[in-house]
Amino acid sequence: MARIITITSGKGGVGKTSISLNLSLALAEKGFKVCLFDADLGLANVNILTGIYPEKDMASVISGQFSLKEIMIKDFGGIDIIPGSSGIEQIADLTQTQTGTLISAFLDLDDYDFFIFDTSAGVSAQVLSFCMASHEIILVATCEPTSLTDAYSMLKVLSKYNYKNPVKVVINQVKSGKAAQKAYNRIKQTAGRFLSIPVEPLGIMAADKNVQAAVISQTPFFQLFPDTVATKCIQAITNRLLEKSKMVSDIPLELFWDKALRFLDTHYSGKKTSKKEQQRKEASTQVVVHSHDIDPELQRQLTVFDSKITAMANDITIIKQMLKQNKSPQRKILPKKNPKIQKVSRIKNQVQDQFSNRIPDKALDQKPDQKPGPAPKVSHKSVTLDFEAWYKKRKQS
Ligand SMILES: Nc1ncnc2c1ncn2[C@@H]1O[C@H](COP(=O)(O)OP(=O)(O)O)[C@@H](O)[C@H]1O
Ligand SMILES: [Mg+2]
Repeated sequence: MARIITITSGKGGVGKTSISLNLSLALAEKGFKVCLFDADLGLANVNILTGIYPEKDMASVISGQFSLKEIMIKDFGGIDIIPGSSGIEQIADLTQTQTGTLISAFLDLDDYDFFIFDTSAGVSAQVLSFCMASHEIILVATCEPTSLTDAYSMLKVLSKYNYKNPVKVVINQVKSGKAAQKAYNRIKQTAGRFLSIPVEPLGIMAADKNVQAAVISQTPFFQLFPDTVATKCIQAITNRLLEKSKMVSDIPLELFWDKALRFLDTHYSGKKTSKKEQQRKEASTQVVVHSHDIDPELQRQLTVFDSKITAMANDITIIKQMLKQNKSPQRKILPKKNPKIQKVSRIKNQVQDQFSNRIPDKALDQKPDQKPGPAPKVSHKSVTLDFEAWYKKRKQS
């Protein structure tokens, strides 16, 4: 029996992988047995952050070729890592035999105290199935308006599927305590007003240059910079997670998979659907907060563009930094100037310029007198703000 936590976000590049990996290490340091499941399909995934490039992944477990233990990266700083890679894409499309193989593969594993799922950005079928099967979700957002809107979109989808447990929010890349507080309050108030999904604060992560330095060194910041503010924030988040442990129940891993796969079967019944049809279904569940005067399809495309471009920009930054230091990421290297990306970026900018003043987020920017319901009270004290101490210290030094 393990605590199963899925780490998610609406938008890419907000710090899910950094938080997943370093939180796992922090839990292991406290003596817990932790397994990190790398379900991030992006380039800047756990491989990049650890410098480990496994040859086998979940795909070979699904095909029955290897056991989970055989593909697992054992004892990386005290944690075990399951490389999801291409296997994750297959999860929404398993045959009955493969489903059985996958579930029984998890029966073979040792007991873990924590199972942490690092997911890709956005509301894909796989990400949703992990979320819906988890007892705990950590939603990562930054203070940027687009990140907050996308975090809200994610909550909206979870709420639509009746997710009932409180979603734990982490505000990342925070530059001031006030901004973090404001960002959290926006999520909390909007979710409280429009959705039936409870939200609670888990903590904040300060913007810290050492996080990027650690990415370039391919060593987690928790190991490389034990005294840096990001490590302190992760420790505060870890303590808070452990404080709450009495309130959550452990579930057997095979039950998690059973729930996740059943969710896919029920809501994405196109096990044999074409990729196009699958994308259409994903798009239709990707609930976006529309304004009155914007074509919903245009708004949806903007959100998708935005997430993809942010993720690509992050990947490119990391690769550039690595190349500068003569460190090859050893895997797919993005072309230097991809005309498709440039075109998408140009279109996105044009459309955004055109509508920049007309895309108020209906829910997030709702004025109090337009109220569809009473706003919930948010206790400012309830947010974990270790950041204040850090901020004072930084000012002194
Ligand atoms: N607290 C932080 N301070 C500074 N940079 C950060 C912080 N958290 C994440 N980053 C940077 O943001 C980028 C994206 O982080 P990552 O964890 O890969 O996001 P995601 O998994 O959500 O796509 C990385 O280059 C990382 O170094
Ligand atoms: Mg990631």
